[in-house]
Amino acid sequence: MFFSISFSLLCLLLSPSGTFSAVLPAKRATVCNGHAVLCERPYGNTTFLGSHDSYAFSSDPLALARDQEVDIPTQLGLGVRFLQAEGHLNDGVLHFCHTSCLLFDGGTVVDYLTTVKTWLDANPNEVLTLLFTNSDGLSIPDVWAPAFVAAGIDTVSYVPPNNPMTRFDWPTLGDLIDSGKRVITFMDAGADGTDGAPVDYILPEFTMLWEPPFDSTDPTFPCSVDRIAGPLSTEEHLNMLNHNLDINVLDTGVLVSDPEAAATTNGVTSIIADANGCAPLAGGVAPNFVMLDFVNIGEGLQAVNQLNGVPS
Ligand SMILES: *[C@@H]1O[C@H](CO)[C@@H](O)[C@H](O)[C@H]1NC(C)=O
Repeated sequence: MFFSISFSLLCLLLSPSGTFSAVLPAKRATVCNGHAVLCERPYGNTTFLGSHDSYAFSSDPLALARDQEVDIPTQLGLGVRFLQAEGHLNDGVLHFCHTSCLLFDGGTVVDYLTTVKTWLDANPNEVLTLLFTNSDGLSIPDVWAPAFVAAGIDTVSYVPPNNPMTRFDWPTLGDLIDSGKRVITFMDAGADGTDGAPVDYILPEFTMLWEPPFDSTDPTFPCSVDRIAGPLSTEEHLNMLNHNLDINVLDTGVLVSDPEAAATTNGVTSIIADANGCAPLAGGVAPNFVMLDFVNIGEGLQAVNQLNGVPS
């Protein structure tokens, strides 16, 4: 004890600027995800704007497998803080592709994550969530984690103290930002250790986050708990809206996203109605993630701001 006090005093006395900075705690973020009040808001009590098939962007209206019109930096610039993407191997390399890399190839996961890391470095006061789909059961430690390491995302990734975390366990956005660990990654399959040893910053989705049905063709988005895993109760899970509307092409069962409807689907009225529809299943609170197609159309951020109780 004596030594540590003397050492602090020494630091103080030797501080070249003559200020007390050497012994004061690091500066804390005062604006988090764009709003001062969100610095004190726990992650599990925050609503984030999400992009469905974020990598499947194209400005070509004939690209039917696209779900977005604008690229990742533009989506992030619009306020998207939750990026969903689907991984597949293409010639032995991990890519983000829509169902198949023949249908829509969004490029390598390393390139995608490098773009994300560049944005994170330029925007140090932002918390970002990634939700990746691993439908081919690719190895988490051998295929997925190396892409995170190559892009440097592992160095800014949050590792929770317990797994699963309840909705009420998460730190505030300010704590995440101040710690420098402000990327939270969920994986729909394999992160529980079924596809190779667990990687501590790639978190199993369904033990912590439940999903309502996806690919709805009903613009009222009837809410139910579609995918979830125990042991936590539904209310202890985070929750999200799969608020992206599909059309069933000529009744063939082929579902494609509907850019024509996006202005209405992504309007405040439709999003808030969906949030209200899911709230009874989520302990009466707002969803954590509002996931949209065509995030550049409509009022996604206004709806999310309203759910967070912050001005637009
Ligand atoms: C956060 O808490 C407030 C107050 O209980 C609640 O109104 C809001 O819906 C919550 N939001 C989320 C995402 O949990």
